[in-house]
Amino acid sequence: MHMPNATSPDVMDRLVSLSKRRGFIFQSSEIYGGTGSVWDYGPLGVELKRNLKDRWWQAMVRARSDIEGIDAAILMNPKVWEASGHVSGFVDPLVDCRNCKKRFRADDPRIKGEPGTPDAQCPACGMKGTLSAPRQFNLMFKTFMGPVEDTASVIYLRPETAQGIYVNFVNVQQATRQKVPFGIAQIGKAFRNEITPGNFIFRTREFEQMEMQFFVEPGTDMTWFEYWKDQRMRWHHELGLDPARLRFHEHTKEELAHYARGAFDIQFDFGGTLGFQEVEGVHHRGDFDLTRHAEYSGKKLEYFDQPNNRRYVPNVIETSVGADRAMLAVLVNGYREETVEGESEGRTVLALHPALAPIKAGIFPLVKKDGMPEMAERIAQDLRPRFPVFYDESGAIGRRYRRQDEVGTPFCITVDGQSVSDGTVTVRERDTLRQERVGADALRAVLETRLSV
Ligand code: GAP
Repeated sequence: MHMPNATSPDVMDRLVSLSKRRGFIFQSSEIYGGTGSVWDYGPLGVELKRNLKDRWWQAMVRARSDIEGIDAAILMNPKVWEASGHVSGFVDPLVDCRNCKKRFRADDPRIKGEPGTPDAQCPACGMKGTLSAPRQFNLMFKTFMGPVEDTASVIYLRPETAQGIYVNFVNVQQATRQKVPFGIAQIGKAFRNEITPGNFIFRTREFEQMEMQFFVEPGTDMTWFEYWKDQRMRWHHELGLDPARLRFHEHTKEELAHYARGAFDIQFDFGGTLGFQEVEGVHHRGDFDLTRHAEYSGKKLEYFDQPNNRRYVPNVIETSVGADRAMLAVLVNGYREETVEGESEGRTVLALHPALAPIKAGIFPLVKKDGMPEMAERIAQDLRPRFPVFYDESGAIGRRYRRQDEVGTPFCITVDGQSVSDGTVTVRERDTLRQERVGADALRAVLETRLSV
């Protein structure tokens, strides 16, 4: 039997197909042929992604006294993007083919010859001399606000959530009376008109970011930078990602933004053609953002250190992780196909952390008679208010187990003949396939304990 493991190139294809078949992820506007690199989350996908975001929010906001949450708007005053450098700097040099109308990055290795000259050849249609000279192309989506479509009403969809935090630095600090060091966190949509999107939900044009800016006193910055690198790597480990597939990548001088004092990516090994790629950035941004916004807005964005009677612009350590990209890492990490001892058919398993699994338990009557469905329904009703469960009485029991395995359900509970007489049920564990008998009365407590690992 062909057994793709997590590093074989076709795992991504299999995930795309599983995601559609079982309702994790659909192509956006699929009935119209889709929208380029935009995806919709289905019933199971929305739960998985929400669990992931909740875990981040819990670790970064609720479990800490030194980080506050916000939810800033997607549309912001366009001056924000001038101050942040996105209007002038968030650009890629691109070339267009006059013949086939396709657009390429100027550094696309498939382009032969110098774009803009008669020898240059289009990598798509093969025509010579049809490629334009490189032009700067801004990755921000532009639209108009209000009834008039003119240059004065141009507005952008935010390409990152971080700026909503910087512009609210003083509001949050004053409202909460937090003292530096403290952080502000948010989860929200971001939009980029990516030129080379793809690899499923790895690089899309609409995505969600989970970002936190930690404001620190200059001089303490490097200690906090190390602290956040460590915390964030730990978070990925605790998500259940294989530590051997995670590593830091330090930005080289060429990669580093001009204002950044240091930057590390947390990379995950997606296998196949992608290999190790960034899932999160931990950046030391110095005082660049607050200084620029102070300059462009004319408002002081400083911190007053009362005990020392001193004002200063804090340094910022940023942690920024894509919710969709982290979800892809979780899916790739958990996907496996394996043979099962004593069975001719193999199984597909999504070994998701129980806290992330969209369904926590499958509940099955062994057969559709002798009081088993009624008892199983009662159990499902009892558990459902606590966590998502799935009741299924159709088909062979083995097939019902398999259907839960492939969507990552950590436990399956079966009501059999013995259950009706002595009130016990079997609890089957997804990863080990071990089954044990548990009193139906104790089921809720047993599952709650095991799910909180
Ligand atoms: N505020 C800093 C910032 O936005 P970034 O490295 O451009 O930094 C941070 O983005 C994270 O956002 C990335 O590590 C990635 O997980 C996610 N991300 C960025 N662009 C993305 C895209 N087009 N599709 C999906 N996720 C993306």
